Amino acid sequence: MPSSASRPPSSSDYDVLVFRGVRAIDPLSNLDAIVDVVVEGKVIKRVGPNAAVSLAGLADLGGPGGQRVFDVPHAPRALLLPGLFDLHTHLREPGQEYKEDLESGLGAAAAGGFTDVCAMPNTRPVNDNRAITEMLSYKSRALGGTRLHPIAAITVGQKGEVLTEMADLKAGGAIAVSDDGYCVTRSDVMRRALEYASTFDLPVIQHCEDHALTAGAQMHEGAMSTKLGLRGWPRVAEDIIVARDVILAEYTRAKYHVAHISTLGAVRILREAKSRGVPVTAEVTPHHLLLTDALLLGYNTACKVNPPLREKGDLEALYEALADGTIDCVATDHAPHSSLEKDCDLTDASPGMIGLELCVPLMLGLVHKGIVPLQRLVHALTAAPAKIAGLPPSRIKEGAEANLTLVDPSAEWTVTADRLRSKSKNTPFLGQNVTGMVVMTIVSGVVAFDASAKLGYEQSRQARPK
Ligand code: NCD
Repeated sequence: MPSSASRPPSSSDYDVLVFRGVRAIDPLSNLDAIVDVVVEGKVIKRVGPNAAVSLAGLADLGGPGGQRVFDVPHAPRALLLPGLFDLHTHLREPGQEYKEDLESGLGAAAAGGFTDVCAMPNTRPVNDNRAITEMLSYKSRALGGTRLHPIAAITVGQKGEVLTEMADLKAGGAIAVSDDGYCVTRSDVMRRALEYASTFDLPVIQHCEDHALTAGAQMHEGAMSTKLGLRGWPRVAEDIIVARDVILAEYTRAKYHVAHISTLGAVRILREAKSRGVPVTAEVTPHHLLLTDALLLGYNTACKVNPPLREKGDLEALYEALADGTIDCVATDHAPHSSLEKDCDLTDASPGMIGLELCVPLMLGLVHKGIVPLQRLVHALTAAPAKIAGLPPSRIKEGAEANLTLVDPSAEWTVTADRLRSKSKNTPFLGQNVTGMVVMTIVSGVVAFDASAKLGYEQSRQARPK
């Protein structure tokens, strides 16, 4: 092991981080301006047009001279965003570490610009108890970097019958409950889940799928599934559950959240419910915004996902709902699977695709096309999901904890397996060129991911002692 004296300095060794001339966006304060941002320790010290006037001046920034300064020089193309927050990931630990584990999953999250991720409970065993919730919290904290917020199960073993001990789960660190991967189909169980979870102010996140309508389904039900002779997953299987749950949410007044919304019908139900003040929220994934069922024509298992890729009309409804706020946030549904589950017949393949490291470039693609305004996207990836999880949002303002994501929106790169940190490479975007790259991710003042040197951003210097 090289000693710290002999290894090259890394950005995490610095006391002061300076971003010069970046376009900083914080939707909560309507900030969208070219500014300098200076971070000292865990805190954003200065935000403003000439906040980092000179390096010599940095010696004055709240500490003795000689501080090590990491200086991101004038980079007018770069976006500085509040740290991104993902409400929906599968990190596979415990139990399926060959697909992903906390270290690889949180590393992929940091590389994707996420300072915070929420981990779904469909692990082996299921996270339906305080011991697993606490293990995830402790272990992720020990790893450092991107923070993990556990989501625990709604029902024991995700079997849809017996409610979990939600008081215990909350005390152990769970920020929400979900049986994701499975739907709570019984109306009586869902009603009690909403009532019980609201006692502890835990949102209930539903995987909306009427399993009786999707038995054996391989893809969206429509012209493509008919052509391929594959059993389809009809839109109504999602819509029926969203409609029933909205009625239950209105009745119980509990916080209800729709995971990975995918149909135009579900969007319509959600919009109507919100217009009446029903406490419902929803997320959409980048892949449901970008891809259609036509991609299944080649039997590509990387495109098999739950809910399935839909049709153009659904995508258009999702765009509109994301832009107007009917859909609150973007979540990746990062679902790693190994070649064992994907290099096989479509009917044998597990559903899911990875998403953490592709979210930023894919979503910026929709911004470049004028489909979603940049400020709205930033809100949907930061404050909106944090609010649903009941956690404080990352901010770009003086005095705030430094949770930041630096993005080069015009850097072009090709998605290849060796560039992805996730243990699993199951994405249909392999081989595609994308635009937009995460440069740095800073969690509580510590650099959790840094590609600045590669992109020619880095220019670290010693501040001169006075
Ligand atoms: C999820 C997974 O792999 O855990 N897969 C997916 O396609 N979203 C579970 C699920 O929702 O089926």
